[in-house]
Amino acid sequence: MADGATLLGLVQGRRVLVCAGAGGVGKTTVAAALALGAARQGKKVLCLTIDPAKRLADSLGLAGMRGDAHSVAPDRLRALGIPEGAGLTVAMLDTKRTFDDIVARHAPSTAVRDRILQNRFYQYVSTSLAGTQSYMAMEKVLAVLGDPTHDLVVLDTPPTSDALDFLDAPERLIEALDSPAMRWLVDAFEPRRKLGLGSLARGVALVLRGVGRLTGRGFLEHMAEFVTELNDLFGGFKERAREVSRAFRGKDFAYVIVSTPVPGALDEAALFLERLSASGLHGDALVLNRLHAVHEGAVSLDDARAAARRHGLGDDIAPALLEALSDESTQGAFDVRALERFEARVRGSAGNGALSRIELPLLGDDPHDLADLAVLSKILV
Ligand SMILES: Nc1ncnc2c1ncn2[C@@H]1O[C@H](COP(=O)(O)OP(=O)(O)OP(=O)(O)O)[C@@H](O)[C@H]1O
Ligand SMILES: [Mg+2]
Repeated sequence: MADGATLLGLVQGRRVLVCAGAGGVGKTTVAAALALGAARQGKKVLCLTIDPAKRLADSLGLAGMRGDAHSVAPDRLRALGIPEGAGLTVAMLDTKRTFDDIVARHAPSTAVRDRILQNRFYQYVSTSLAGTQSYMAMEKVLAVLGDPTHDLVVLDTPPTSDALDFLDAPERLIEALDSPAMRWLVDAFEPRRKLGLGSLARGVALVLRGVGRLTGRGFLEHMAEFVTELNDLFGGFKERAREVSRAFRGKDFAYVIVSTPVPGALDEAALFLERLSASGLHGDALVLNRLHAVHEGAVSLDDARAAARRHGLGDDIAPALLEALSDESTQGAFDVRALERFEARVRGSAGNGALSRIELPLLGDDPHDLADLAVLSKILV
């Protein structure tokens, strides 16, 4: 793995940077910082983000909005050293609205479109079915790629229980909607056939096992209507999912794996890299986020007292400072060991030789405004 590299080459050479990784490792933060860093390189960047922490959303101007893109004001950009002509637009992914757009695109008539959009079972599929959020994020990227307003898209990925879910999302969504039970239901609702309610209920039970538990009156009817309408839509929808899946395997796309230096997150990062190489792809960069510093050399009590005074604190805090310093070094040593194990695992895997590694320090507070992101972006790009 190449150390001390930056993501400049990816920023300059690719059109889409996908930030993937385990839950809570900093994908959203890294995506936003990376977008800012790319803008500083003169790019017109769109950052597609997913549920940023509230303070970060506020400072990006996303408070209370979904789906709509928000361009960071030029004067704020200039203040961060972003050149004239470059731009940073941030949009929060709206899974349901993206799905609605697909339905509208593929529905054979406005009547069918409206029936599907108003269907209660559709409300569930379009918001809560496993993989929907990932798929819609991918779909949205493809939709915005044709837009010349942006020359680079940075994609944050949804919090999944497993980073691997992301790449498989199109196939999994199609599978869920095209499962034998679903097909069976569609057949059952063909008007030519008359099936008893008993076999119908069995079919529904099968489907429910696949898609999760739902309750509510009239649900059966909603579901029946949905699967029947879906039949008309399905051909186009399936073809589009294939297209989305293919696009994400294209040369314009780069995969930035984000991880913290803890074993669980690194295991997931390694699995993700393996999954990429199984599809003939490779990870382009590994961002190690929230690394603890290892403090070399002894710090005396006098040094700690002097440091406390410099920060307007009392001498009595010095022992606690020393302890915190030592704790951080211990954590830092754990990080180093976890990383060594990770590197031993991924070395040798096809394509990982080119994986550049960027380290981001654990900041004292949650990064939540553009200035905090700028600190991280300078390390990234
Ligand atoms: N380098 C850092 N130093 C300190 N805090 C950080 C750093 N990077 C991220 N954080 C904080 O860690 C938390 C998780 O970060 P973030 O929301 O970016 O992760 P995520 O991978 O997008 O999570 P999810 O999987 O839930 O979407 C946030 O509170 C964020 O502010
Ligand atoms: Mg996130």
